[in-house]
Amino acid sequence: MKLLITGASGLYGSKLAELAENRQHQVYAVHSQHEITRGIPIRLDVVDKVKVETEIKDAKPDVVVHAATMTDVDKCEINRELAWKINVEGTINVAQATKTIGAFFLYVSTDYVFDGEKGCYKETDLPSPISYYAYTKLKAEEKVQDILSEYCIARPSVIYGATPAAGKVNFALWILNKLKNKEQVPLFIDQWNSPTLNTSLAEMTLEVIERKLTGVYNLSGASRVCRYDFAVALAKVFGLDDSLLVPTYMRAMTLPAKRPRDSSLDTSKAEQTLKNKPLETAEALERLRIEMTSAAR
Ligand SMILES: NC(=O)c1ccc[n+]([C@@H]2O[C@H](COP(=O)([O-])OP(=O)(O)OC[C@H]3O[C@@H](n4cnc5c(N)ncnc54)[C@H](OP(=O)(O)O)[C@@H]3O)[C@@H](O)[C@H]2O)c1
Repeated sequence: MKLLITGASGLYGSKLAELAENRQHQVYAVHSQHEITRGIPIRLDVVDKVKVETEIKDAKPDVVVHAATMTDVDKCEINRELAWKINVEGTINVAQATKTIGAFFLYVSTDYVFDGEKGCYKETDLPSPISYYAYTKLKAEEKVQDILSEYCIARPSVIYGATPAAGKVNFALWILNKLKNKEQVPLFIDQWNSPTLNTSLAEMTLEVIERKLTGVYNLSGASRVCRYDFAVALAKVFGLDDSLLVPTYMRAMTLPAKRPRDSSLDTSKAEQTLKNKPLETAEALERLRIEMTSAAR
């Protein structure tokens, strides 16, 4: 299969490119500011409609996975014009170019499309974003549905993985670095989600695109946990001192963008449909430990 991935320098896209190449798929890796480690590089800004169309027509992939996004929730709240351009107009550009070549399309959305008042959201629950980032992701989902007939919308939640990507450490690595340096780590006990190991997300999305499954899928971890409990589980798996983890309240913080209180996802549809099942936190963290140990060798 010829697979084009946007956001291939990011936390999720880089892992997807790695696993897809391991399975002998031909990968076109779209990046912008950061370098890619796998695939045939295509450097572009998704806002550039003409370049997007030209590159996608030239590569002529069978499948396009669109993960390129302005992911910083607070920056999106502050710079709304840029967030709209990248997240909504960029998605329109990639989706329209995909339509012209008749490829299958997978859009990577987010659990943040929900307001977080209920938790354990199913694919059929009504989105109600409370931040501008989430609003742009929901608008992008709607544009995908308008433009294409053969698509999948995948919704992960707090992605983490073994290596930094796109110039950033992720939530799990941030906690591990702090604990290894014997620093205290403040963590919310009033924000719940379904943390998602990038490897697991990449495996699930690979299966979705190989089987061309259409519709909306919650593709996240299978456990609902608060940030603090996730960190406790992480410390346990890595044999680190969990007394450095300090419970704090999100409701006591003032951040530019609001975060959902409980954006955890119900993964039963993915569990029933996929051979690559969503992972419980303990199982995912053990896989993370193994990945980090073998990378350090
Ligand atoms: N991370 C999470 O916790 C989380 C949770 C739920 C959903 N998601 C969704 O999952 C997807 C992947 O997230 P991630 O954490 O892997 O992202 P990430 O590590 O922040 O990487 C973002 C990617 O988007 C690319 N990008 C940004 N602006 C671009 C532009 N104008 N043109 C072309 N490429 C551009 C970046 O390229 P350069 O770095 O090369 O500029 C990078 O490859 C996103 O759609 C996100 O909304 C993420």
